[in-house]
Amino acid sequence: MQDKKFYITTPIYYVTAKPHLGSLYSTVLADVAARWHKLMGYRTFLLTGTDEHGQKIAQAAEQAGMPVKQFVDQFIPAYKGMWDTYEIEYNHFIRTTDAGHVHAVQQWIEQMLKQGDIYKSFYEGWYCVPDETFVTVDESLNSSSHPSIHFADANQSGRAELTQPKPGDTGPACPTCSRPTVFVSEESYFFRLSKYQDALLKFYKENPTFILPKERAQEVIRFVEAGLKDLSISRTSISWGIPFPGDPKHVVYVWADALNNYLTAVGYPDASFKQWWPPDVQVLGKDIVRFHAVFWPAFLMATRVELPKHLLVHGWIKVGEHKMSKSLGNVVDPQLLFDRYGAEPVRYYLTRYMAITHDSSFSDADLEQKVSTDLANDLGNLLNRMLVLAQKFELSSVALVAQWSQPTQELQLSLKNTIELYRAHMREYQFHLALGELWKFIGHTNAYFHGQEPWKVAKQSEPCTHGELNCSAKDRCVSPKFIEIISATAHSLRAAALLLWPVLPKKMETLLNALGHQLNISTTDIIDQLETQPWNQTFMLKSIEPLFAKYEPAPAENAEPKKEVKEAENAITIQDFTKIELLVGTVKACEPVPKSDKLYRLEVDFGPHGKREILSGVRKDLAIEELLGKQGVFVFNLAPRPMMGFTSHGMMLFAKDSEGKTKPLTVATPVPDGSRVS
Ligand code: MSP
Repeated sequence: MQDKKFYITTPIYYVTAKPHLGSLYSTVLADVAARWHKLMGYRTFLLTGTDEHGQKIAQAAEQAGMPVKQFVDQFIPAYKGMWDTYEIEYNHFIRTTDAGHVHAVQQWIEQMLKQGDIYKSFYEGWYCVPDETFVTVDESLNSSSHPSIHFADANQSGRAELTQPKPGDTGPACPTCSRPTVFVSEESYFFRLSKYQDALLKFYKENPTFILPKERAQEVIRFVEAGLKDLSISRTSISWGIPFPGDPKHVVYVWADALNNYLTAVGYPDASFKQWWPPDVQVLGKDIVRFHAVFWPAFLMATRVELPKHLLVHGWIKVGEHKMSKSLGNVVDPQLLFDRYGAEPVRYYLTRYMAITHDSSFSDADLEQKVSTDLANDLGNLLNRMLVLAQKFELSSVALVAQWSQPTQELQLSLKNTIELYRAHMREYQFHLALGELWKFIGHTNAYFHGQEPWKVAKQSEPCTHGELNCSAKDRCVSPKFIEIISATAHSLRAAALLLWPVLPKKMETLLNALGHQLNISTTDIIDQLETQPWNQTFMLKSIEPLFAKYEPAPAENAEPKKEVKEAENAITIQDFTKIELLVGTVKACEPVPKSDKLYRLEVDFGPHGKREILSGVRKDLAIEELLGKQGVFVFNLAPRPMMGFTSHGMMLFAKDSEGKTKPLTVATPVPDGSRVS
């Protein structure tokens, strides 16, 4: 019998801050795919974790004035907590600082050295620290929206452009993140990537669905066809990394360390890793596709193990026009979204509306609108209307229906077609398309329910549908037609709940319970049953609270205020107010002012208005991390004020929370720096 195992991975996240919506996105997609396979009776393994070595992390720890391990440790509860909040059923959370991983990577390096796939030479070139990537000059000149990766060639280090700079000099902008690169010139170990060029091209050809969506494969193939050079995989200029076996001057390059987590987390080099190997799907963002589609398969070829079956490459979540990212300071905090909307509406919005195939903009207003329309109206209301109507006519136990009318048979056929299409899209991990199909069916069920007008056909005392000889409720007995409509609607809702369970697990379990059903995950293929079995279910209906909240659109600008507001005694006019320039800015640096126990010196970025030095007397109330990287609201046109040897060019605004703790005044959703508060 074929082993129904499903091994899926998320990227491992750099731990320089708490998780943001982008990290949540990759993780939710993996969880949805894993749960979908659970429904189909697979044993599943979902791996996630954190990428903790490398220059970027070391620098962030240094800036925070903390030992690196302590710095990364502080974020781990935030990651694990966030995954629990969002109902991510992960099986293992790997940290690249785990002793088991470190040891396994060293063994891997030793094996590569022994078989000649790694050799020692010298590397010179540009390096992007935030992306932990080698960048060639050509790439930075021809930068496109897609990032490129550098391959060092040990024998070709003497390019004119590369010989002049000194190590540590800043250089051309990184094609991915546009920040300056630094020059690196050091002894390095190299992985013989060039040796795998032909094998990689053959592999892509023989496995056209290796990279999903398929459209993303072309870029990778073109890149490999253009020629691969050997890859630098060790660094001597940093020390925060896995010590290189047998050569303590070197640490393992962070990507050679990180990519191997997918192997080490399931037990490699112990043979037990084979119970899960190879990964069935690896989820990743488009910014790291070449690491996964070029280096990683080459590493695995050298390791002589099977390659992953699919890489699922998703686009970026954008805020406005920009990729949401920690470094751009425009991240959306998933905790705030959870507090406002709950986990499952956010999971739904991410899965359906942040389409895998392209970049998508995130906005609270859009989320509210989609949750209200799709979840509260289309699905939630349908359930409630049915339950309320059944209750009104005292129908709670819905018996088997022997014969279905023509309209119901059409609904059944529509479900069959939907499941087929849903499955096909899920097979390619095109969740947004699958959900789109399901919503057409939910629309069809709504139309059926309305069109059949069950409230008009409900009452009929003959024959008694309770099947009792002397039925005490005879005058309230409902018609067979009514039972058919309720049963058909309940069958449809049950099907929708099962198909939707991977995305909205708890809500769909509640929905099933309201129908008197429950979900039992086992080795049975529930989706197959759903597709092949006739409509032969009975239901025990229970009224429940509405499953989903509805959000009112924000009132139009000139709408009448709802409540009368008591006028303030010292009221100012709007003209007075507009004299104060309130701007949003990001705190780029925060340090204590020497000899003052109250003041911080902030460096604040106001986008097009430039950067400013601002002093703030909150040192006793707030830790540096509570300000660093945060977007806040500032009085921008306050006259400059000298303080303790510095000059403050503005004022940051704060408010006290319910416990009296000082909190910076922030914006609910990131906005471009320099935006005016009005
Ligand atoms: N540590 C590496 C991955 C190593 S995997 C062996 C890394 N970490 S990351 O934290 O920067 O990014 C992790 C994942 O989050 C990537 O897949 C990235 O695409 C995703 N996202 C980060 N920001 C994102 C958006 N704004 N939108 C969607 N996904 C984004 O890269």
